[in-house]
Amino acid sequence: MALAERGAEAVVTAVEWHGQPAIEKHRNPRSYRHPDLEVRLVAERLRAEARLLERASEAGLPVPPLYVVDPAAATLVMAWLPGEPLERALRAPNGVAWLPQLGELLARIHTAGIVHGDPTTSNFVADGSPGGDVNGNLSVIDFGLGAASDDDEQRATDLRVLLESLEAHHPELKAREPLLAAYGEWDGASGALERLAALEQRGRYNLVRG
Ligand SMILES: Nc1ncnc2c1ncn2[C@@H]1O[C@H](COP(=O)(O)OP(=O)(O)OP(=O)(O)O)[C@@H](O)[C@H]1O
Ligand SMILES: [Mg+2]
Repeated sequence: MALAERGAEAVVTAVEWHGQPAIEKHRNPRSYRHPDLEVRLVAERLRAEARLLERASEAGLPVPPLYVVDPAAATLVMAWLPGEPLERALRAPNGVAWLPQLGELLARIHTAGIVHGDPTTSNFVADGSPGGDVNGNLSVIDFGLGAASDDDEQRATDLRVLLESLEAHHPELKAREPLLAAYGEWDGASGALERLAALEQRGRYNLVRG
């Protein structure tokens, strides 16, 4: 078993599941001070993540099929998605062309009644070259901080996390406008976009006030 990635909390390993390339995601309890509580929290989070993956999949979103949910072992097994983290794909010569698809995908996630919770560019997997199904596919992973919700404030927070991730890692792309334009094509977008403006206003105000 090769260690594929080590994220903030989870350890992700490449495995095989009935002959299929798969990913095992294991979460260690974070603190040893309250081990029972931690074990319960980890199991709860894992169940929540699995439920969101199922919900996303039922809504037809591009997510990895879930193979095994084992809360006692704090483990999920899901299909391994070919491709590369969007974070890297955005650095390719035509990387900017992923942005419309990215904005549309976030809108589709929100339409499905899901807020992602951590939509940074490392939580999307890009396969092929950008420009839609024919050329390339964009999938979303890691619902570990997500929730089932239709709340515009939480949707706006998703938008903000994504914009900040794009601005921090890919300032040269000037991603804001194309991202928001694509997201804004969704009929339900206006509430979240208004909330985003309010959130950002508040952020600026706090910055000025120190
Ligand atoms: N199904 C998958 N297919 C391909 N690569 C994956 C898959 N799941 C995870 N990865 C890779 O492993 C990395 C870490 O996985 P993930 O984002 O789910 O965990 P994490 O960020 O550690 O989790 P959390 O934020 O919930 O603690 C991803 O950024 C991605 O590169
Ligand atoms: Mg992640």
